[in-house]
Amino acid sequence: MSEDSLLNVEDLVVRFAVKRGRGFGKNAYLHAVDNVNFTVKRGETLAIVGESGSGKTTAALAVARLVTSYQGKVELNGTDLLHLSDEDLRQARAKVQFIFQDPYSSLNPRLRASDIVREPMDSLGNMTETEKSERIDFLFEAVGLRPEQQRLFPHQFSGGQRQRIGIARALATQPDVIICDEPVSALDVAVQAQILNLLRKLQKDFGLTYLFISHDLGVVQHMCDSIAVMYMGKIVEYGPRLDIFNAPQHPYTQALLSAVPSVDKARRAKSKRILIPGDPPDPVNLPDGCRFANRCPAAQDICRRDEPELDNGVACHFPGAKL
Ligand SMILES: Nc1ncnc2c1ncn2[C@@H]1O[C@H](COP(=O)(O)OP(=O)(O)OP(=O)(O)O)[C@@H](O)[C@H]1O
Ligand code: SF4
Ligand SMILES: [Mg+2]
Repeated sequence: MSEDSLLNVEDLVVRFAVKRGRGFGKNAYLHAVDNVNFTVKRGETLAIVGESGSGKTTAALAVARLVTSYQGKVELNGTDLLHLSDEDLRQARAKVQFIFQDPYSSLNPRLRASDIVREPMDSLGNMTETEKSERIDFLFEAVGLRPEQQRLFPHQFSGGQRQRIGIARALATQPDVIICDEPVSALDVAVQAQILNLLRKLQKDFGLTYLFISHDLGVVQHMCDSIAVMYMGKIVEYGPRLDIFNAPQHPYTQALLSAVPSVDKARRAKSKRILIPGDPPDPVNLPDGCRFANRCPAAQDICRRDEPELDNGVACHFPGAKL
């Protein structure tokens, strides 16, 4: 683990037992996260990108120990969270906070905004009531809400304002890592930009570290330092943001990127939309070889036989293939 890496995930596997067939059929497993490795440096943002069902949320939940991992390591500040129990686990959990996609369903409708933000501090149990109230005042201002809004209930806020409450709550315990799981997908486009700007400003002001999940490369293009692209539980491409945007190597990344409207005129002129035909394979019954082979325009025989390993940031037998 390098010195400045704050979160280090190694060989993470999360699998779910699923029933196949009727009656007492044998259990099969769905490998939602299959041998995943990544590192997030302090003060930086790693984006995890991929289409629905690729395992982004499950990986994030496993980092926070909100889902059980089958195998692997999740080191935060050098401590493996997967082996903690009781009080140590409770303390460690407060160091990893979530901002969820839907700020309405993730906020308790019966609590006032101030109590929603207070809750994680109550759970942690190491602050006086005065300290908590001062922190709530501070956080409301930091996320752009007015002091008198502390008394209101979630339904009295707009979607963007509700997400601001979610952000204040995530910051309450001064976590080391904040996991943003599709934090703007449920919001109007104009509001999306405001929330992304707020997240960036808070990162700059407080040195926050984000794990930022999105199905949309467009959303993360101004939001991250590195990108991990997931497909069917695996990271298929991983590298610095600019490398991925300027020279995507994996056919799946190339296709995702071709769907991002470019502000750069020259790039827009030469880029063509790459459509991915077909559907992903059955996650419980994965094919041999590359999981993307049935949809990949560059697939060859070897792809259907041998599974490509992540090597030099890309898991593909023909990286950089012209599509
Ligand atoms: N509790 C569970 N039990 C069984 N299967 C699950 C469970 N949670 C997730 N899965 C499966 O694991 C896979 C990965 O799901 P996950 O929610 O992590 O994907 P995602 O990338 O976050 O997708 P989305 O963009 O839709 O949020 C999917 O096939 C999903 O159906
Ligand atoms: S390994 Fe083959 S099928 Fe898989 S992405 Fe690369 S070229 Fe396509
Ligand atoms: Mg998800």
